[in-house]
Amino acid sequence: MSGGYRVAVVGATGVVGTTMRSLLRERRFPASEVIPFASPRSAGRELDGQPVRPLTDGVDIDGFDVALFSAGASISREWAPRFVEAGATVVDNSSAFRRDPEIPLVVSEVNPHALEGHRGLIANPNCSTMQLVVALAPIHREAGIERLVVATYQSVSGTGKKAIDELDEQADASLRGADLPAPQVYPEPIAFNVIGAAGSFAGGDDHTDEERKMMFETRKILEDESIGVSVTCVRVPVRICHSEAVNIQTREPLSAHEARELLSAMPGVVLEDVPTPLRAAGRDEVFVGRIRRDESHPRALSMWIVSDNLRKGAATNAVQIAELLVERGLLRSRDSVAA
Ligand SMILES: NC(=O)c1ccc[n+]([C@@H]2O[C@H](COP(=O)([O-])OP(=O)(O)OC[C@H]3O[C@@H](n4cnc5c(N)ncnc54)[C@H](OP(=O)(O)O)[C@@H]3O)[C@@H](O)[C@H]2O)c1
Repeated sequence: MSGGYRVAVVGATGVVGTTMRSLLRERRFPASEVIPFASPRSAGRELDGQPVRPLTDGVDIDGFDVALFSAGASISREWAPRFVEAGATVVDNSSAFRRDPEIPLVVSEVNPHALEGHRGLIANPNCSTMQLVVALAPIHREAGIERLVVATYQSVSGTGKKAIDELDEQADASLRGADLPAPQVYPEPIAFNVIGAAGSFAGGDDHTDEERKMMFETRKILEDESIGVSVTCVRVPVRICHSEAVNIQTREPLSAHEARELLSAMPGVVLEDVPTPLRAAGRDEVFVGRIRRDESHPRALSMWIVSDNLRKGAATNAVQIAELLVERGLLRSRDSVAA
């Protein structure tokens, strides 16, 4: 297609990058070409008819309008500013820039206004936070959220391709009655198990980095530093979709019926009785169910939230941000062309 946007996908061979490439096609993003970038390990591979460009010094990164990054935080720290300098607007899936007050952290249905005035870099939130804030936003707008208590049930694809392989290999060995292969990705076997601490403990912290991300990012996206967030992140032997048991204490009274009404009007939310990962996988929406009064508190509700971590939790939101940048005329490359 001529006259479209030149798009780079960095981390194109990974589970998120693969989903990004298919979403760009599915959603008919107006791309003139989509160029895959990955590590030198992927040199020689071809994706969608394009040779993979290994991200090494000297690689051609000029002329991109949009760069979607999903290759990990250290790659983003090193390469995202270089793509920005070369003229691209970068949407970064890693945790590298989310805490930077100068960099917007955007969920397309929740705070698209934060894109205004961006300086070339936009951060995509952590997958567990993404689905949470889509469900929380209309409740926060209506009644204010005082405190949240969240327990996540996170799938292995949230850790990437190697973790899916680890679950499959352990499950296969276990069902055959063979010895389990030694865990490589997680500290304990994940097949037929539950690991009560998803993420890692940094510098003696008693919360994992996943838990800290949800605490920080929820407040930044909802633009309210006063929200109390108590969270336990848990890894479960599910391939795709994160689930969350969420207790919400509001500032103003809000009935379960009112919460249901608010959520049914929220773009990107689907109400179901009891959403499950198997049904939500491959879908772009956030599924919310079991909305009920918490009888232990006069202003608290409980609910169950499920969404595909590779889609809305990562790739779908990144592509939606790219679409918003195009719709709102916020791509830097086009500004400089117009100027
Ligand atoms: N999985 C999720 O649900 C999710 C959700 C939100 C955000 N994220 C974030 O997205 C990023 C990728 O996650 P993933 O789950 O897709 O991981 P993954 O399946 O392990 O894929 C990693 C990707 O990064 C590339 N890569 C690794 N080292 C590289 C290097 N030195 N230079 C260039 N490319 C390199 C890999 O290329 P090779 O194939 O060549 O090694 C691969 O394309 C992470 O920052 C993660 O935190 C993931």
